[in-house]
Amino acid sequence: MSRIAYVNGRYLPFHDAKVHVEDRGYQFADAVYEFCEVRAGRLVDERRHLDRLERSLNALRIPSPMSRAALSVVLREVVARNRIGHGNVYLQISRGVARRDLPFPKEVAPSVIVTARSLNRTRIEATAALGITVASVPDNRWGRVDIKTVGLLPNVLARQTALDKGARDAWFIDQDGFVTEAASANAWIVTADGKLITRHADHAILGGITRAVVFEAVKELNLHIEERPFTLAEAYRAREAFVTSATQIVMPVVRLDDRQIGDGKPGPVATALRGEFHRFAELG
Ligand code: PDD
Repeated sequence: MSRIAYVNGRYLPFHDAKVHVEDRGYQFADAVYEFCEVRAGRLVDERRHLDRLERSLNALRIPSPMSRAALSVVLREVVARNRIGHGNVYLQISRGVARRDLPFPKEVAPSVIVTARSLNRTRIEATAALGITVASVPDNRWGRVDIKTVGLLPNVLARQTALDKGARDAWFIDQDGFVTEAASANAWIVTADGKLITRHADHAILGGITRAVVFEAVKELNLHIEERPFTLAEAYRAREAFVTSATQIVMPVVRLDDRQIGDGKPGPVATALRGEFHRFAELG
């Protein structure tokens, strides 16, 4: 079956799904995006993702291209047309197409694209059962990574550096030695006395939707949580570590640089949160 993408009002076969060379998303990364998990053909936490999308659009002063209800229809339609059972749906909105010039163009309609893809659940679960390895890299991103823009070059380079070092993901370390987040996920540790630590959501991390749902799960599971920066040294000593994102849900981290985390296996907290996550997420 050929894949279908939504591009500015049309559902097109993938090889015809194109944007203009002067799209500002392409030229300036002047665009925002969302990634939403799809489970049994349904969107996970759509409401929260669309809330964050609105926030990102407002932060960049890109007008909403369509109503929330219309956007929701498009997301569902792309999922259905691609017959996604388990996978994700990707939405990108750029400021639009205009002659190349830095200031905002006047009266330009935003460009909207939506794609979806299936993921191999068995393979992801096999990865989660083993846990992943992570390499630390300097955080050299701009000061507003709380806005979900497509300007991801530092993230691309960080992930590649990690892969080159034989790790699967990268953790960004800020100038003071604190872990900010992973290349495309939020970072967490569990301390020796069982407390969950994740950085507070300021301008230095993306406020993950998965992270927000894990906060709710944590409350019900009677775990203690501290929202604060933690150093790389503290992470090395952690009993457990994990990352959260819409694509990975809760993914245990078993190695950080050349240090084994805990006993080198996914820990009980990460495993429990992964198992319980979808009880707390909203299924659309
Ligand atoms: N990434 N931090 C960064 C830098 C991210 O790119 C993401 C998500 C997250 C977690 O956010 P959420 O829980 O809402 O997915 C944190 C998406 C999945 C991606 O670009 O692949």
